[in-house]
Amino acid sequence: MSSRVAAISPAWAIPGYLEVANGHLSINGADAIELVREYDSPLFVFSAPRIRSNIRRLQRAAETVEKPIRFFYASKANSNMAVLKTVRDSGIDVEVNSGGELFKALKVGFRPDQIIFNGTSKSDEELDQAVSAGIYAINVDSIYEIGLVEAAVKRLRERESEPLPPARITLRLVPEIGTRSHLGLQTALLTSKFGISSSEVSEAFRRGLQHPELINVCGIHIHVGSQTPDVEPFAEAFRSMWEHLLTIHRETGHTLEHINLGGGIPVNYLRDRTQADQLPEHERDMLGADLEPAAVLTAALRIARESAREVAAEHLLDKVTILLEPGRSVIADAGLVLTTVRNIKRRPETGDVWLLTDAGYNLMLSMNNYKWYYHLISASSAEALASENYKVAGPLCDSGDVYFDIERGGRLPDYRLLPENVKPGEVLALLNSGAYSLAQMFHYNGRPLPAAVMIQEDGTAELIRRRDTYEDLVTNDVW
Ligand SMILES: Cc1ncc(COP(=O)(O)O)c(C=O)c1O
Repeated sequence: MSSRVAAISPAWAIPGYLEVANGHLSINGADAIELVREYDSPLFVFSAPRIRSNIRRLQRAAETVEKPIRFFYASKANSNMAVLKTVRDSGIDVEVNSGGELFKALKVGFRPDQIIFNGTSKSDEELDQAVSAGIYAINVDSIYEIGLVEAAVKRLRERESEPLPPARITLRLVPEIGTRSHLGLQTALLTSKFGISSSEVSEAFRRGLQHPELINVCGIHIHVGSQTPDVEPFAEAFRSMWEHLLTIHRETGHTLEHINLGGGIPVNYLRDRTQADQLPEHERDMLGADLEPAAVLTAALRIARESAREVAAEHLLDKVTILLEPGRSVIADAGLVLTTVRNIKRRPETGDVWLLTDAGYNLMLSMNNYKWYYHLISASSAEALASENYKVAGPLCDSGDVYFDIERGGRLPDYRLLPENVKPGEVLALLNSGAYSLAQMFHYNGRPLPAAVMIQEDGTAELIRRRDTYEDLVTNDVW
């Protein structure tokens, strides 16, 4: 391929992955415009090399601490089968949030002992599936749920002739730890719907240890939230879990095998900061966070080591494996959405130029409900200076389907900067949109869901999700 890679690379570029070649956006050497020509628009594009390098970054972080660390990819971030396969082949484990995600994880080839099941409202069927598969841990979300897992074990033992070992459970705690992320993405607050509060922990453990023939309480879990920009909440969560582990050991003699620190390692959505100054400071700090996973692990372990030394409990810490459930940090910047400008209008009264694209919030729900910032570039003129202000909007029949904050909360810039003279037919790219997008997309307005491709190391594209047809819109309707 005689592609000409731009000499000056834009701020959003990631060498070897996101570049400009022949004036176009290039993804691991695949030309974005060619991809749209072949697979149509809108189109999700994922990079297998980027997923692998994100996972390697986590694995390298694990090597910096002298402790066994296991990563369980949070499949809610993106559970496309090809994505799961790439994650599995990279050698890490998986976290699921429903019977459906459990089904997908098993189907793609994760072993049961590589799977953790989280969730606030698991059904009996889902618990039966998890228990009978013999997964690594079911993270129980309340004292009540402990009884549900026990009931599932009893039910299955009656039903199946095979002997069934006790189910492994982890207690999910909610210790009131705030973060500087969106309120909707904070999950360790007492006002959130998650987990068992600190005042209930002793009772929860007593209850969990009542029937060792049915369940084995093997760990403790806290997920402080997603896109957590600072190290402190992780360290605080680890301290809390470690102290509970010590108390439980002192009170019952029971030793926990693992401490699960959840997900939440942030992604830098503001690699290109040209529009960052239009965002409120706290939003900028959160979206532009550049927190190394190694820093999270080091800070958490330092606290536990000091505490272990003080109370002569190093032997307990030595036995503990640390688990992390990264989602966003694996897949967000490994995916983007290509969208085509379908319509253009200039409002005489305001002078605004409106670009109407084919990618609405039905493809990126976070852009609507959290006003999440995805940096927008021109994939057709990737080299050109982004010097003009445009109002940008999607195709949905909803005035909230816009790429700015319609409520004027300032959480998204009012205008998007793109090159001058953008015309219908031009392809744009919403960067860093690989997490919580494809997994959350929906058919609103009867819009068939888009295709997705995965780019391999050599620049070849593989279809990993076929585009819906109109028939797909009616397959489940009964009339
Ligand atoms: C329990 C749990 N673990 C892991 C994650 C993944 O978080 P992130 O994608 O921010 O890494 C989430 C998502 O919020 C979660 O709820």
